[in-house]
Amino acid sequence: MSAEANMTTTNTVTPNTINIDGQDIPFKNGQTIMDAALAAGVYIPHLCHKPGLTPHGSCKLCTVDIGSRSMSTSASDRRTQTKFSVDIDRRSVSACTTPAVAGQQISNDTPALNEVRKTITQMLFIEGNHLCPACEKTGNCTLQAVAYHLGMLDGHFPQFFPRREVDASHPTVMLDLDRCILCELCVRASREVDGKNVFAIAGRGINAHLIVNSPSGKLVDSDLETGDMAVHICPVGAILIKEHGYEVPIGRRTFDLHQVGEIGLEPVILAKARHTNE
Ligand code: SF4
Ligand code: FES
Repeated sequence: MSAEANMTTTNTVTPNTINIDGQDIPFKNGQTIMDAALAAGVYIPHLCHKPGLTPHGSCKLCTVDIGSRSMSTSASDRRTQTKFSVDIDRRSVSACTTPAVAGQQISNDTPALNEVRKTITQMLFIEGNHLCPACEKTGNCTLQAVAYHLGMLDGHFPQFFPRREVDASHPTVMLDLDRCILCELCVRASREVDGKNVFAIAGRGINAHLIVNSPSGKLVDSDLETGDMAVHICPVGAILIKEHGYEVPIGRRTFDLHQVGEIGLEPVILAKARHTNE
């Protein structure tokens, strides 16, 4: 019998149940930790995750810790004739890409993890030009809402102030790359929902940037249409519909009325992006 088969856990593992911050949460086969958490009403901060799209795992905001279950062998070590225990190391993983496995002991809403998430959020802010008071998406922006949720008061790091293009060539949609956080939601939505391939990421590391798949590289020469999911899925103000500026006053916007941690906000956020609820 293998050593692994010899091991018995000191905790009882309930089939198809994970534990997040002390709460037992059921999951279905094939679900990720994020899927199971959201289905149970547990918020794990995220930016690049959207139910229904292939998980991408790029923003790392959903980082959680897994472990440590103390395990002990039922058989003795051959040489020492003593039983021994094994601690499965704690490890940090992305909840949106890690499959739920029965018995996982997961830490999510802890001061240490939220501090890491706040640092990631600060880095996203300083890497682009996020001038919230002048952005049409303010109050409807998930990056801004996550920053409030995590208690972010400033950018902490020196601003990059990158010089990036605004593509206003399309008749109804504009693209402001200053605000792009490279979450690839528009890339996946265009490919997986709209059946097009309007957006892509080019370059690597600090040079990574969003591009438009068209002969000129401009939106006007792409097959993007106002009704496309890719137009409405941007969590920040990088993709906006033209001629709808400030229709909902500040104070009545999504995150003026809701906490970002509320589960089931997706339809509200989408309706705001489509301007169907004014
Ligand atoms: S334009 Fe918006 S949705 Fe697309 S990658 Fe940038 S931030 Fe994400
Ligand atoms: S939501 Fe998991 S890495 Fe972005």
